Amino acid sequence: MRGKICLVTGANAGIGMETAVGLAALGARVMMVCRHSGRGEAARREIAARIPGADLELIQADLSTSAAVEALVDEVARRTGRLDVLVSNAGVFHARRRTTPDGLETTFAVNHLAPFVLVTGLLGLLRGSRPSRIVIVASDAHYRGTIRFDDLQSERRYGGWKAYTQSKLANVLFAQELARRLPAGEVTVNSLHPGVVGTKLLLRGIVPPRLARPWTITPKQGAQTPIYLASSQDLEGVSGRYFADCREKEPSEEATNPEVAARLWDVSSRLVQEKTRGA
Ligand SMILES: NC(=O)c1ccc[n+]([C@@H]2O[C@H](COP(=O)([O-])OP(=O)(O)OC[C@H]3O[C@@H](n4cnc5c(N)ncnc54)[C@H](OP(=O)(O)O)[C@@H]3O)[C@@H](O)[C@H]2O)c1
Repeated sequence: MRGKICLVTGANAGIGMETAVGLAALGARVMMVCRHSGRGEAARREIAARIPGADLELIQADLSTSAAVEALVDEVARRTGRLDVLVSNAGVFHARRRTTPDGLETTFAVNHLAPFVLVTGLLGLLRGSRPSRIVIVASDAHYRGTIRFDDLQSERRYGGWKAYTQSKLANVLFAQELARRLPAGEVTVNSLHPGVVGTKLLLRGIVPPRLARPWTITPKQGAQTPIYLASSQDLEGVSGRYFADCREKEPSEEATNPEVAARLWDVSSRLVQEKTRGA
């Protein structure tokens, strides 16, 4: 990965941080997108200590509003003339409904809309650096999800798990739809399940630590599939697939429905336009 530039969102903790470690160890320059500059700097220092000579750059960005994600797109373009790999990893789970300054439900906004804006905004840079790769950290939780087009923001009824599974299904649908829209062999896009990983998202949000521990793998283990998708030569030209344990896997039936994917794309771009341009 020497000479390659990789961007990882949510790079200060959990799977994202270990993905940044792995890519830095392979010699890539890693742009670490972190919400909080203090936590980002602490992670940067820790990675630099673990990987001597690591080429790391910190970018502070909160991905909860479309305007902030668009500002991140501009900042990345200002800092680099090429981008070889984009790993969209940042994500949240909220047991209670929260909203962003845009007035959107936070899980939907951070887990789905932010990658939608970031990836589509950076496509020019990725295409200019072809062959390049987009890696979307989704989840096997998507098998339990459905896209509720009549209540996307969970205004009528909220459940943390429901909102999370919907957002992870949206990740897989987005990756599939983008792969369909991109010319073959230029920019590839794949999504993945990292495993059940002992991170703050899982242990503070979804399952109490005492119940989760026997089933969890470490963040370093959880980072193996994103690192594989970002770097393996076996995957040259492979696009629109879903992976777990560094192996291809069949996603859910809804995740492979092109009509649902196209509809979600349209709804998402309309929402972004409303939020960023006041249309
Ligand atoms: N853990 C699992 O078992 C599991 C299983 C399947 C899929 N996943 C997926 O893996 C990804 C990483 O999760 P994780 O388990 O590693 O959790 P984590 O340790 O909680 O890390 C989440 C990362 O996302 C960042 N983030 C959250 N909200 C953000 C925002 N508004 N703007 C910018 N960054 C934000 C966090 O920043 P802060 O540190 O500042 O909060 C953190 O860096 C998520 O997409 C998750 O859905 C996890």
